[in-house]
Amino acid sequence: MHSAVTSPAPDWLVVPDDANDLVPAVWPASVARTSEGELSIGGIAAGALVREYGTPLQVLDEGEVRRRAAATRSAFDAAAEEHGTTARVYYAGKALLNTTIVRWVMDEGLNVDVCTGGELEVALAAGADAGRLGFHGNNKSTAELERAVEVGVGTIIIDSALEIERLAAIVSRTGTMQRVMLRVNSGVHAETHDFLATAHEDQKFGTPLDAAAALVARIREIEGLAFAGLHCHIGSQIFGVAGFRESAGRVLDLHEQLLAGGDVPQLNLGGGFGIAYTRADTPEAIETLAQGIVAAVAEGCAARGIRIPALSFEPGRAIVGNAGVTLYEVGTIKDVALENGSRRYMSVDGGMSDNARPALYGAQFSARLASREGAGEPVLVRVVGKHCESGDIVVDHEYLPDDVVPGDLLAVPATGAYCAPLSSNYNHVPRPPIVAVHDGASRVIVRGETIADLLGRDAGIER
Ligand code: LLP
Repeated sequence: MHSAVTSPAPDWLVVPDDANDLVPAVWPASVARTSEGELSIGGIAAGALVREYGTPLQVLDEGEVRRRAAATRSAFDAAAEEHGTTARVYYAGKALLNTTIVRWVMDEGLNVDVCTGGELEVALAAGADAGRLGFHGNNKSTAELERAVEVGVGTIIIDSALEIERLAAIVSRTGTMQRVMLRVNSGVHAETHDFLATAHEDQKFGTPLDAAAALVARIREIEGLAFAGLHCHIGSQIFGVAGFRESAGRVLDLHEQLLAGGDVPQLNLGGGFGIAYTRADTPEAIETLAQGIVAAVAEGCAARGIRIPALSFEPGRAIVGNAGVTLYEVGTIKDVALENGSRRYMSVDGGMSDNARPALYGAQFSARLASREGAGEPVLVRVVGKHCESGDIVVDHEYLPDDVVPGDLLAVPATGAYCAPLSSNYNHVPRPPIVAVHDGASRVIVRGETIADLLGRDAGIER
């Protein structure tokens, strides 16, 4: 008998037979339970990590990041080869960026995509070969563009007419030849299983398809700009191939039209490959997606009688998302009676400052007791943070054992992407460290913030 079946759980959340079970798709492959039942990551028990680094703690499994980077690269290489072209994979640094991760993914043969001057500096500080960087952004400043040209960024993805003129001025002054692509807005927006296709997508990124040919003509007039092709990104956390197929078809119409005016050697279809956050998410293997997307492009090219261009992709979440696990210590626990049952509010020592995704997007996560296996029946829990805000939710709905008590450790998987980058100091809560684990060893790759960091920018403090 499960104790919480009358609780207000969403339909997608099934009551697990065992609330200690580990759904493989959401965790790094190295996650296991020790003989004592404790969760271990990268060969290190959660308790040992917490004794060394405290809570909250963002743990990143190096092997998982490398494995996913390598698998993504070889999946797209194989699919491209099958269709007589090549594929380049850029890691979208916005998902999680620090110098260590840049080195890992570059080691595995990936390139890196950055979208601000700040992200560019992190990649450069990692010693990245600038030629392997792509630079995005819908409002790159002149200073950012100057820096990108100066350091030799491989591809600048132009977003607008303004940017063409900013770049034209820079390359004419510096006498540089800069490779560029043009980001177009295909009118397709995809999210999880659905996509929306309209004539004009109502958003800020890129150039509408029907305005792009004129911009490409302008780029081609400028001596210092080498036009490499079109770029399109249709969304994030996408599970199927359909949205990519629809968008590629539309972009290929323009691509074909542009061939009349010169070479269009490349096509970049962006990122957005979905991952599992909960047991309800069932993303396809990267090999399946790569095969499906590249085949769709190949068919589109064959139908138009044009040569398939060299392809590029920009996954972020799919490389790092499931490599991250956040460890928290459980504090206050309250059972709140509701009309249709009850909900257990379980507070942890972090929250929306280290994971803003539930508050920002209503994103769903999952959680497991990490310090031990629980013996109690599954009970419906909402894991919340310590911030002064009712929307400060870490895991909206989860079944956890009934016997979790203050002092226990909770692990939230799939926090590797868009958690640290969206973190804040709300309520003056210091950001947690990021610790890499691998083969039983751990090391800090981004140190945690201290109270001194929190006070450091306050000009009212006498020093
Ligand atoms: N390329 C471009 C041009 C992008 O704008 C993005 C993501 C990516 C690649 C990588 O997408 P990914 O493979 O990681 O889905 N903060 C949101 C996601 C924002 C995505 C922004 N752009 C979230 O936490 O869900």
